[in-house]
Parts: sequence; structure tokens; C-alpha cells
Amino acid sequence: MFSLSKVVRPHIFTLTPYSSARDEYSGKEGTFLDANENPFGSVISGNYNRYPDPYQWAVKEKLGEIKSVRPTQIFLGNGSDEAIDLVIRACCEPQQDNILILPPTYGMYKVCADVQNIAVKQVTLTLDFQVDTKKVLETADAHTKIIWICSPNNPSGNIIERSSILHILDNFTTGLVVVDEAYIDFASEDSFTKLLDKYPNLVVMQTFSKAWGLAALRLGMAFASEEFIKILNKIKYPYNLNGVTQKLLYTALGKVEKKDKFVTQILKERGRLHKKLSDLSIVKHIFPSDSNQLLVKFIDANTVFQNLIEQKIITRLRSNVILCEDCIRISVGTKKENDLLLKALRKY
Ligand SMILES: Cc1ncc(COP(=O)(O)O)c(C=O)c1O
Repeated sequence: MFSLSKVVRPHIFTLTPYSSARDEYSGKEGTFLDANENPFGSVISGNYNRYPDPYQWAVKEKLGEIKSVRPTQIFLGNGSDEAIDLVIRACCEPQQDNILILPPTYGMYKVCADVQNIAVKQVTLTLDFQVDTKKVLETADAHTKIIWICSPNNPSGNIIERSSILHILDNFTTGLVVVDEAYIDFASEDSFTKLLDKYPNLVVMQTFSKAWGLAALRLGMAFASEEFIKILNKIKYPYNLNGVTQKLLYTALGKVEKKDKFVTQILKERGRLHKKLSDLSIVKHIFPSDSNQLLVKFIDANTVFQNLIEQKIITRLRSNVILCEDCIRISVGTKKENDLLLKALRKY
């Protein structure tokens, strides 16, 4: 049986968090003399003199409707990178606990663990970038606090089989299973957010940096049990999302259709790019993608990458990453950008 009190570090579980002025009085009306703000206004035009809502309830109400989750099941952070860092800090005791990752995958899980001096166990994905669930469950030990599953995966781009994730959720109950769905808007599979009430060991992460086109705002989401979200709220900086970002996000949440339109455009371009790339003799293989990236195996990726750089086309060389020998990860661009890439590759 899963028990959050056994997963969260004991001193965090019992921590008394900082109580901000906005924690102690959350009403909107009144004469505010509680937060040592400037009562006259801001030195630039616009009203930035008051601290923002520390829990971002207005945006969480709206986001909860879009994602069919309760606002209390949502954590918002300065990119999903903040959520990744906080989940590790909440659960893992340095030099004692470990996390388990499935390379090749997103680099920040390991970096955040390394910063905290937390060991990282690794179970390499299969040749088709799927999860060897048996090996994962055998590798996890009594000190494994988090298993990270990136689906759709970065850099391979593919979705992880739903049955594999469910198998891990059902059988790893001494820690959390984080499903990082940064690219879920580009996939045809359902999000795991629908299973939050069934699995108290599940944390789902998503981001506004990809399909929503808001990477510069730094906005990430974590969805989990209300109990675990309370833990994240205890250890985050009190005002981790600034007021300007909250306002912009509120507006963005009214534009789901525009996001969907972007997704349609990107998927169309992904199909076209895939087809055109496969016609090139220097391309050995293109891995199937459920995201906005294509992992492409070239005859000599290093030289191709350098040549593209010389033509001012910047891609991501992954040839030193496990299972990605001679691979370049290409983000799907606009039609014009993709045509420039194809032209440069043909010239090469
Ligand atoms: C799988 C995955 N998770 C998380 C992130 C980080 O997202 P954010 O911009 O919200 O920090 C990325 C960024 O590329 C990613 O690929």
C-alpha cells in the first residue's frame, strides 16, 4: 500500500512552511498594510507593486477545467524544471535515496539529482525506445523514491506503451512514478492525468513551453494527489510564479483552440519533414515520433551537424547519447524553416 509519509523525507513531511502575508489574508478588498509593498505604484507603467497570489488560484481554476482535474491537484512552477527539482528535493535524502531514470531521456532528472547528491539508477530503454518493465522493477530498491518515465520521450520522440506505465504504477508502490508529458499535446494517446484519483503514487508533468508556445514565460505543471501537491507548495518559493506570468497564463488558457491549431500545423509539418528527410541518401533512419521532434540517424551525424551549423541551421547532436549513435534531434519548424533545413541537407 502506498503511503506518502514513507516517500516524502520525514523533515519535509512535518515542515512548517513560511507563511506569507498573502497566506494570512487572501481577501481581495481592503487597505493592505501587511506586506511592506510600495503603496504608490511602480516605477514603470503598470501595477506591479503588490505581491501576486502565491498559489495562483485563478489560473488553477481555469486550468483545472481544461485538464479535468481539481485545482488542488495542480502545482505550477517556473518551468517543469522547477517541478522536477522540487519532487526530488521533497522525496530524496542525499547520499541515501536514489531515483531511477530510463535513458536516453530528458537530462534534467539526472542533473537535479546530481545537484542534491542523490544517486541515479539507470535502465536503458529497449532498441525501439520502450521500457523493460521487468528490469525497471528489479532495479528499483528500497531507497528508490522516484521512477521517471518521459512519454512522449525526449530525444526519441515516441510515446511509451501505456501498459508498461500502468504495470510500473501497479507494482512500484514504495515511491512515486513521474510521467513527464511535456510533449503530450502532439500525441494521440490520452494523458495520465485521468488516473490521478486511482494512483496516489502518480505525478504527471506537463509544460506550456511546447504546444502552447510559452517557453519564454517559464511555466510548468505538475498534477498529483492533493496530499503531494500540498508538500510541493510547502517547499516552493512563496511567490514562485510572478504576477505578470499569472496574468498572461490566464489569457493563454482562453486560447485552447489556438494551441490546437498550432499542434495541427506542427503535426502536418512533421509528416512532410519526415517524408522529405527519408528521401535523402544521407539519412539512414527516422524514428517514429509522437512529439514535435524527429530523431534522425545519419550516415555521419557529426559532420552533418557541423555542416548545418556552418549554414546557420541549429539542430541537436545526440550521437554521444546511449542508443542514439549518429543521431541528430530535429525540432519541427515552420514550413519555411524546414525547407531551409532540407535545402541545407541536400547541399551537403
Ligand atoms: C521531457 C521534457 N520535460 C521537461 C522539459 C522542460 O520544460 P520546461 O520548459 O517547462 O522547463 C523539457 C524541455 O525540453 C522536456 O523535453
